[in-house]
Amino acid sequence: MATKAPLDRVLVLEMVRVVECAAIAASKLIGRGDEEAADAAAVEAMRAALNELPFEGTIVIGEGERDEAPMLYIGEKVGKAAKDAPQIDIALDPLEGTTITAKAGPNALAVLAIAEKGGLLNAPDTYMDKIAIGPGYPEGLVSLDKSVRENVEALAKEKGVKPADIIACVLDRPRHEKMIAELREIGCGIQLIPDGDVAGVIAVTDPDTTIDIYMGQGGAPEGVLAAAALRCVGGQMQGRLVFRNDDEKRRAAKWGIEDLDRIYTMHDMAKGDVIFAAAGVTDGSLLDGVKRLRGGKLTTESVVMRASSGTVRYVKSEHKRDPGV
Ligand code: FBP
Repeated sequence: MATKAPLDRVLVLEMVRVVECAAIAASKLIGRGDEEAADAAAVEAMRAALNELPFEGTIVIGEGERDEAPMLYIGEKVGKAAKDAPQIDIALDPLEGTTITAKAGPNALAVLAIAEKGGLLNAPDTYMDKIAIGPGYPEGLVSLDKSVRENVEALAKEKGVKPADIIACVLDRPRHEKMIAELREIGCGIQLIPDGDVAGVIAVTDPDTTIDIYMGQGGAPEGVLAAAALRCVGGQMQGRLVFRNDDEKRRAAKWGIEDLDRIYTMHDMAKGDVIFAAAGVTDGSLLDGVKRLRGGKLTTESVVMRASSGTVRYVKSEHKRDPGV
């Protein structure tokens, strides 16, 4: 069913500009071994680009809380808020994959999602258990409530293949040892990614990646961003916040989260009309990274999607010069 479309469609292209600016800024730091500098460059560029836009934007997922992030902190207002400007909630990660960028690995992205006020889950900066599959499967086929084996078997049955033919994408972390062992026991293929689970989740929607399912624990903010993308492109996702200590529980309470064990569907995490945009910083499964050509020219590749229309646009841009110089 088509979703009501209250977000001005002009914002679609504006979002591309914003992620392009962040990606270009971060790209100067690719392979330089400095995660913080890469992140700071992307943050500054994304904030400057957002502040050009004719809306009253509120960061609901950003670089952290006000006392820990000087820019793009949760609650910060961005945009040129003229009278009657639309109120927009923004989830962003100016550089998703700081370590990837520092090491010149694949799949670093500049990412953001916007929705109407109240449309995005104010997820605290905790971990989140995630599970996602691509479009075309019955709702609820896989669930965080089920075991790894149950999910793989249900998915394989629906896809018409053996459980051992299923390919899962999992963040390569010690905390996933048990899950990986269970997948190996079934005989599944596992794509272990070093970082970057926004791209990892989105990969389930693209048959070219051959990834059938995303499983495991990653950042909660990245979970909301991935849910926003799946809302636009199709597929299913669930997330459940994981708290490591009382401080994280306090943060959740601050953002109005009462049921700490709740399983969120992608519709709970990103409601109504949503625009999701990402630009490649380094080459990856979703997008090519920023390329610097002779004579100061640059090329970028971005994707922008909209939930209300289901339109997915890939944008290849040529920039005569670095916009940040
Ligand atoms: P950063 O860009 O903030 O470094 O995040 C990269 C990332 O791999 C995310 O994609 C993922 O959700 C999270 O880190 C996983 O966290 P951790 O590295 O602590 O396992």
